[in-house]
Amino acid sequence: MYSEKVLDHFTNPRNVGEMTNADATGEFGSSHCGDTIKVFLKVEDNVIQDIKFKTFGCAAAIASSSIMTEMVRGKTLEDGLQLTNDMVAEALDGLPPEKMHCSCLAADGLHKAIQNYLNGQK
Ligand code: FES
Repeated sequence: MYSEKVLDHFTNPRNVGEMTNADATGEFGSSHCGDTIKVFLKVEDNVIQDIKFKTFGCAAAIASSSIMTEMVRGKTLEDGLQLTNDMVAEALDGLPPEKMHCSCLAADGLHKAIQNYLNGQK
């Protein structure tokens, strides 16, 4: 049912945990299933220097969160805002249709953290 990549990122998630000195955080809860993600960002010169996450959710949600952090670390905030859940699912070599909403959790949590960072800067 799941690709090798999903299983890899689920059993060995990258960048999982909290960040005590984060520049911004973002939380998002899935209206579909109630699962949640919290994203921590360290930003310098408009670039995501470091990123961590805590996800309370299914295997697909944890794998999506993990690969999302790898996709945006070292990228600009604009790149982060442009990351879509389809891109996350594609990077995982696909998700079953009923699990596509789990990739939204990762993308939306990231977008929330970036928006909070940008709002805080004003
Ligand atoms: Fe809720 Fe996967 S079932 S995020």
